[in-house]
Amino acid sequence: MTNKSYLTSQNGAPIADDQNSLSAGKRGPLLLQDWQLIEKLAHFNRERIPERVVHAKGTGAYGTFTLTKDLSDYTIADHFNGVGKQTETFIRFSTVGGEMGSADAERDPRGFGLRFYTANGNHDVVGNNTPTFFLRDGIKFPDFIHTQKRNPKTNLKDPQAMWDFWAENPEAMHQVTILMSDRGIPANYRQMHGYGSHTFSLWNAKGERFWVKFHFKSQQGIVNLTNEQADKLKGIDPDSSQRDLVLAITDKNFPKWTVNVQIMPEADANTYHINPFDLTKVWPHSDYPLIEIGELELNRLPENYFAEVEQAALSPSNLVPGIGVSPDKMLQARLFAYADAHRYRVGTNYNQLPVNCPHATQANHHQRGGAMAGTACPYHGSQTGGDASPNYGPNTTPEALQESSQFAEPPLRLDGEADRYSRYNQDDYTQAGNLYRIFGEDEKQRLVATICGSLSQVTLDVQQKMVVHFTKADADYGDRISKALGL
Ligand code: HEM
Repeated sequence: MTNKSYLTSQNGAPIADDQNSLSAGKRGPLLLQDWQLIEKLAHFNRERIPERVVHAKGTGAYGTFTLTKDLSDYTIADHFNGVGKQTETFIRFSTVGGEMGSADAERDPRGFGLRFYTANGNHDVVGNNTPTFFLRDGIKFPDFIHTQKRNPKTNLKDPQAMWDFWAENPEAMHQVTILMSDRGIPANYRQMHGYGSHTFSLWNAKGERFWVKFHFKSQQGIVNLTNEQADKLKGIDPDSSQRDLVLAITDKNFPKWTVNVQIMPEADANTYHINPFDLTKVWPHSDYPLIEIGELELNRLPENYFAEVEQAALSPSNLVPGIGVSPDKMLQARLFAYADAHRYRVGTNYNQLPVNCPHATQANHHQRGGAMAGTACPYHGSQTGGDASPNYGPNTTPEALQESSQFAEPPLRLDGEADRYSRYNQDDYTQAGNLYRIFGEDEKQRLVATICGSLSQVTLDVQQKMVVHFTKADADYGDRISKALGL
């Protein structure tokens, strides 16, 4: 056995000299037989994987979710059953529109992608710091993101595209008002709330279904930056939010969130005056109050940023028994998009990586092979990768994997004709206006200044269309913007 401290090549062979290439003569050119040099350069060329198409800049941490209220009346989900139960978690925070090297203090929603490593598999809530979103149908998402990213010709950010899109998509009004308000630039990831945003479902042992929204309330309080503070910070420390999280956890100043749910009985969805599956809307707490169910604490930093954060593959389709989806058309699209992105970005067997494999249970299935198969999950190992057990089911061997009908989701009644139903002619304005009306005078002034700082850069026809939308949300809102634009 060689000394463990020897520098070796990938095949484990000790390296005699890692400072000097193999050359033909003292001043001569290099030799192709220098496989050490080739291995080093070739691996270097492959150090990067594609960055996430959205939410590329981010940071992560592990933590603990402690259940303080038993939810077995609503769900069989293991992590929501049994007061005091603790479940390991992983979270990745992010901005949305910037690239991997972009500044943290941008005016942009923040990703709040949380994984619970439950005894019945990994449950991911891949939400944002906002309870709503710009769209109500996932077919619009690529168009929307194109307007948030760089112009394909100039490679510059493009306010014209952004406002042109919003002018044509009034369902964005609520989220645009949040984004442009004082809430639009969180000071860091600790001092902001998180939301599951979508409506999901819970189902219990009796087969009853409830609609649910998840809320994570920061115990650090909410702190936001003004445009001026953010502009300065972006120059001083582009990694301000990441640094804040790393320092806090290193100092054992563990950030915490109080976890709440809003719960709606299944049948209410048919009569509630707000479409509960429309992601541009919130459920007023006066209708469905917050129920406190636990606490999330972040208390451990990853050891290897690339392995654990860059390769983290969070997905709204990571669901566990007791938790299901809802008909929300955005959520439905996301159920496809994430695992597809992971197969492209990380590779077929991304779920075998330590951050992605189940930690509190074992993955047992008949899928085999694929690039990099055989990476054993350090927690429980994984059958994927070709151990000796059958790769088909059912089978008659003693180790045959059993289906568990006790985990069957109750059937969901659906009706209606298959069609492409218009996303227009719905109420796009009431909640945007309600939000505007609760802002104080100073905040209204800052909101209008922020909107106009950007909207003033675009063509007159787009400005005029936006003023119509703001006016429909609230006459005073539209009036102030119209005046500030000099229309
Ligand atoms: C990341 C697609 C809507 C929150 C991503 C990624 C894709 C994607 C492809 C990159 C995944 C990866 O490479 O790991 C979509 C589509 C949407 C949508 C198609 C609409 C249909 C939303 C919404 C939210 C959201 C509504 C929040 C409520 C996030 C977060 C991440 C993310 C937090 C980063 C996850 C991480 O930290 O790894 N999205 N998205 N997305 N998305 Fe979405």
